[in-house]
Amino acid sequence: MSLPARPTYLDCDTGIDDSLALAYLLATPAARLVGIGTVSGNTDATQAARNTLDLCGLAGRDDIPVAIGRTDFLARPYDGGAPHVHGANGIGDVELPRSEGPVDARSAAQLLIDLSREHAGELRIVAIGPLTNLAVALEADPTLPERVADITIMGGAALVPGNISPVAEANIGNDPEAAARVIAADWDVTLVPLDVTMANPFEESHRAELLASDSPIARAVGEALDFYFDFYVPEYGRRMSALHDPLAAAISTGGVIPSLAPRVPVSVDATDGPGRGQTIADLRGQRVAPRDHDGVRTRVVLEAEGDVARHLVDLVTARA
Ligand code: BDR
Ligand code: CA
Repeated sequence: MSLPARPTYLDCDTGIDDSLALAYLLATPAARLVGIGTVSGNTDATQAARNTLDLCGLAGRDDIPVAIGRTDFLARPYDGGAPHVHGANGIGDVELPRSEGPVDARSAAQLLIDLSREHAGELRIVAIGPLTNLAVALEADPTLPERVADITIMGGAALVPGNISPVAEANIGNDPEAAARVIAADWDVTLVPLDVTMANPFEESHRAELLASDSPIARAVGEALDFYFDFYVPEYGRRMSALHDPLAAAISTGGVIPSLAPRVPVSVDATDGPGRGQTIADLRGQRVAPRDHDGVRTRVVLEAEGDVARHLVDLVTARA
């Protein structure tokens, strides 16, 4: 017997890997997307909403509310994103057919608060961009965590280098003030950092399966990945990519199971020094195997089992 689909709010900076995560969350029977908020990161929040609406349109899901969130981060202005990674429009310069779906009139933070009331105790959050909208929602309604089942965040680097500074991963490093508040809030957080996302590849053979699919959204994501694969050549030595956001999405649904995910305190460096944006996961003194800390509600995924790319491709290319 399959479990009922979880009502899920996605917060994203859509983004090429965000697009694959979105296609996956639209396809998996384990999630029911009830709202999407956009934030600046890979591109600005308004362009991220455009990309999100158009991708949802390709999937025939214009019904999902898409709300624009904050353009600027809590303490610093948006700085132009990552066009060298995600293209000038955030999705590898692929031109998508324009969706008829309107932008939701609410802010992303308000949409999240409203959904948490509508689905109290059930709502799952998947956050795959900077955590600005979530921090704004917590500020507006400190009781929000009481109504959220769990939150999965793609972000941070526990034992590996960062990707925008020696220590900072992009989602955390773009808005460390927001990340510090969101990770410290009283809810069950699963952090999916670079330690595990860089270790799970998506290859040309997987991209070819997306391009050959009957599904328009799968084909669009396959086209966008062309740009992303170029970016990763210096990192991996060939055309392929890491699976940042899609892995976080797949862990949130239970489609991919973490094999090593200790519950440890995590703090975020929000100072102005060279450590800005670092996630400090307390893994000290764990010479044999990481152990859980009593009462800690943040687990840090260090390893995941199974063939993650296979799981994603199978669902994203499946006939509706
Ligand atoms: C994260 O930053 C963004 O570029 C990606 O979409 C992902 O969410 C990886 O560091
Ligand atoms: Ca992202």
